[in-house]
Amino acid sequence: MTAVVTGIGGFLPPRTVTNDDLSRTLDTTDEWIRTRTGIRERRVVSDGLSTGTLAVEAGARALRSAGAQGVDAVVVATTSPDRLCPAVAPEVAFRLGLGTVAAFDLTSACSGFLYGLATAAGLIGSGTADTVLFIGSEAFTTLVDPRDRATAPIFGDGAGAVVLRRGEMGEPGALGPFDLGSDGALADLLAIPAGGSRQRSSDGGPGHGTVPEADWYLRMDGRPLYTQAVERMTQSAQAVLKRTDWSVADVDWFVGHQANIRIVRAVAEELALPEERVAVNIDRVGNTLSASVPLLLNDYAARGDLKPGQRVLLCAFGAGLSWGSTVLVWPDIHAEPVE
Ligand code: COA
Repeated sequence: MTAVVTGIGGFLPPRTVTNDDLSRTLDTTDEWIRTRTGIRERRVVSDGLSTGTLAVEAGARALRSAGAQGVDAVVVATTSPDRLCPAVAPEVAFRLGLGTVAAFDLTSACSGFLYGLATAAGLIGSGTADTVLFIGSEAFTTLVDPRDRATAPIFGDGAGAVVLRRGEMGEPGALGPFDLGSDGALADLLAIPAGGSRQRSSDGGPGHGTVPEADWYLRMDGRPLYTQAVERMTQSAQAVLKRTDWSVADVDWFVGHQANIRIVRAVAEELALPEERVAVNIDRVGNTLSASVPLLLNDYAARGDLKPGQRVLLCAFGAGLSWGSTVLVWPDIHAEPVE
């Protein structure tokens, strides 16, 4: 018994921010951003849109793709929730008209989609749910300092979702074995210092002083993260292929987290995967954390590049540090373009 993908959907907020837009307020250039990251533009929330509203839009499309009226559970992977408390998933379930089903959030930054797929598969495998709507949704640009040229160009907002149902291994859409891992010793490489219980984002009351503004925002040590991303994604992908009994030659599409085009290409090179089997959309969306992998799947499926029966290797890496991989044979499902 396993979890089988029966529907997919994605949503991007309408506001586009190009590299030239950024270079008007930051000491950067379109050329630097394109050559160092592969990003040309990204979508950014505006007009009251947030992680919750993006999740509702992507979730509705995934339910439509699956032809599902309801599900037994809603899981949202996000590192930019609408509020610290409560989780956003119950409200998303309510706004989708899904009633009082089980609903919770999961936080695993850019590997959130892989951790979430494994969690949703666990809900199904344990008999807790027959069907799960799983959404990766992020308005992470709200947590990035717009004055920081090292991080502001990298991130974008969006949401991607899948519907999963109970099924059998070997069916198209069945999620294969997972490889998941973490290294908390390197937690500080990518972190938002304030806003949690360790350091609240306001002064926390009389006598507690004021938190420096920089601590409200993401801090990133890009170089070591880059090296870790290439190493961990490569190892994780190799581990899952070994457990699946697929060779690299069996993989039709490598769908890796879109953190940086150079990272994706370096992992593909380490795996000896040719460029034409590597899915890429970072140029238009940037790094959308837990929404990255499902948005990429949705893009490729919607334009027919990802076809039923093709073998897909999913792989992600992010803050924590954390990483994960799985495989599936792409099912015969409808995907709508996000634009
Ligand atoms: N525009 C222009 N110059 C910039 C810049 C920007 N937006 N950001 C940094 N620079 C400068 C730096 O100040 C540095 O200048 P110096 O050589 O005079 O000191 C130079 O460009 C090189 O900076 P560096 O940080 O070494 O560049 P890089 O090649 O490592 O690329 C990242 C930076 C962030 C793109 C890259 O390290 C990366 O992608 N890391 C992983 C990040 C990641 O994946 N995060 C999410 C994890 S899922």
